[in-house]
Amino acid sequence: MTPPKNSIVVGDSIRGIKTLPDDFVHMILSDIPYGIGADEWDVLHDNSNSAFLGSSPAQQKAGAVFKKRGKPINGWSDADRAIPRQYYEWCSRWASEWLRVLKPGGTAILFAGRRYMHRCISALEDAGFSYKDMLAWMRDRAPHRAQRLSVVYERRGALQAAATWTGWRVGNLRPTFEPILWFAKPYKIGTTIADNVLAHGVGAFNEEAFVRYGRSPDNVLACGFEPGESGLHPTQKPVKLMQALIELATLEGHLVLDPFCGSGSTLVAARNLRRKYLGFEINREYARVAEERLVDRLCGDHEARRIERNG
Ligand SMILES: C[S@@+](CC[C@H](N)C(=O)[O-])C[C@H]1O[C@@H](n2cnc3c(N)ncnc32)[C@H](O)[C@@H]1O
Repeated sequence: MTPPKNSIVVGDSIRGIKTLPDDFVHMILSDIPYGIGADEWDVLHDNSNSAFLGSSPAQQKAGAVFKKRGKPINGWSDADRAIPRQYYEWCSRWASEWLRVLKPGGTAILFAGRRYMHRCISALEDAGFSYKDMLAWMRDRAPHRAQRLSVVYERRGALQAAATWTGWRVGNLRPTFEPILWFAKPYKIGTTIADNVLAHGVGAFNEEAFVRYGRSPDNVLACGFEPGESGLHPTQKPVKLMQALIELATLEGHLVLDPFCGSGSTLVAARNLRRKYLGFEINREYARVAEERLVDRLCGDHEARRIERNG
């Protein structure tokens, strides 16, 4: 059964989206699992690396410095090297269904991690999407977790090495931007994009609305959290950022789908802009938070509904 518009489905979107009709939604906007964290919902690989969460004998000996690192990126184990391919396979499980339910010319915008986003792009391209552009979201805060090499040597008592390698780190530079991937569903052969816009209401972008969120139609966005907004989900996105992206590609009354909606930032943005929304969230607690955020803002003919799907 097709879930009603303005609802959150508690369950697996990979299965749930199969129940939606063809050409159903005007836009898909989703902050998908990046496959880089240690949270259960973000572990999309076999997880057979012996160093996962600092559990290898060498790491145990070195102490707590490795405890927070979910997935080593040294590339020295077969399990590490399999992760990008496993991420591609995971994206391929849902990409063709996303294409099917999106209207011709419709926009799909995804947040994806810098390390595996190329696999996500390939999976969506292989499913039939056109990849249009990569935008960047500049974050207000970006903790820099790269480990100081001199600290490791000091712990070992290797003071000469610590002095030589002062100022050096292992890991990455400070992650100040997150990529936003912009895809389109190709419009039908034998028509033009202008015909497609008239037929389906999608295919162009609203520059006039978008520039209100920044100074110009640049592909770098800097929308941050409002006071008191954050803290609902470990990877929460600002509602204002989601609003900028929704206004880029839809009109009032259009339906926006978020298959990995977390605490519901996309859905709140959609309803603030008088769009319809449909969210899926597998984690019952995050779905409850999303529902609360939507119920808070209930007005007029909008109605937040929760649908339980077991499996
Ligand atoms: C990156 S988070 C989204 C956070 C969101 N942007 C926010 O502002 O709260 C991705 C979410 O997808 C959910 N998820 C993971 N696999 C899922 C699946 N197969 N179906 C539905 N939700 C899933 C996770 O529980 C997680 O809350």
